Amino acid sequence: MYKIVKAEKLADLIYLMDVEAPRVARHCQPGQFVIVKIDEKGERIPLTICDYDREAGTVTIVLQTVGASTERMASLKEGDYFRDFVGPLGVASEFVHEDLEELKKKKILFVGGGVGAAPVYPQVKWLKEQGVDVDVDVIIGSKTKDMLILQDEMKAVAGNYYPCTDDGSYGHSGMVTTKIEALVNEGKKYDVCVAIGPMIMMKFVCLLTKKLEIPTIVSMNPIMVDGTGMCGACRLHVGDEVKFACVDGPEFDGHLVDFDESMQRQALYKTQEGRAMLKLKE
Ligand code: FES
Repeated sequence: MYKIVKAEKLADLIYLMDVEAPRVARHCQPGQFVIVKIDEKGERIPLTICDYDREAGTVTIVLQTVGASTERMASLKEGDYFRDFVGPLGVASEFVHEDLEELKKKKILFVGGGVGAAPVYPQVKWLKEQGVDVDVDVIIGSKTKDMLILQDEMKAVAGNYYPCTDDGSYGHSGMVTTKIEALVNEGKKYDVCVAIGPMIMMKFVCLLTKKLEIPTIVSMNPIMVDGTGMCGACRLHVGDEVKFACVDGPEFDGHLVDFDESMQRQALYKTQEGRAMLKLKE
């Protein structure tokens, strides 16, 4: 059993939890995820790790309620327990494996959309801990000011933090893509971009960064269902190769990902009929 030591509502439908899971906290790296189960019969929910405290033995997760299981999960309070908290799973973010001196020479742009700010945070924090922060720009977009999450945390670790809101209620008014264009037009140059958020956002960020010739990494966490390599929901094309987001990812070269196919799969997996149809095809 895994105790929830902190439970907090960050914004409408978005919740943060610190969970006592010392083994996961000891070994996890930015980019990895956990599978959470509320009880024996509960659905398996894959969630990207948002933060970890190796000394305290806690792991932070952020979830957005999208259905019955996540709503049940969001109703849990401090002192409640999860039945399972399995991880760390998936491949750690590319940065973790790179030569630190080479990494320090890079200008890095992070783009997070909505709840995608949560998996962006541990990567930016990790870079700061390694002494790579001056050239790390972070753009976080949301619909409104109230929906922007982890602002203080992000400001504390980013070289430059640029909030954006669709309705113009805070920061840059407009989509994250228009902010990327504005920064590049100001003369900013980036060696790599990491985009994490809704599929449609990642698709349009990739279309833009391809034009701007900025290599881009995306996280395909949104299409994961059971996170075990068995349900098939997260199958995607990356160039000519077929991959599974939960086993081979969740991070991939965004310029090679077939977003249209993945968005279609994601939509089908939302319904039982769609799931049955995909199973027949496989
Ligand atoms: Fe089910 Fe990857 S999430 S196979």
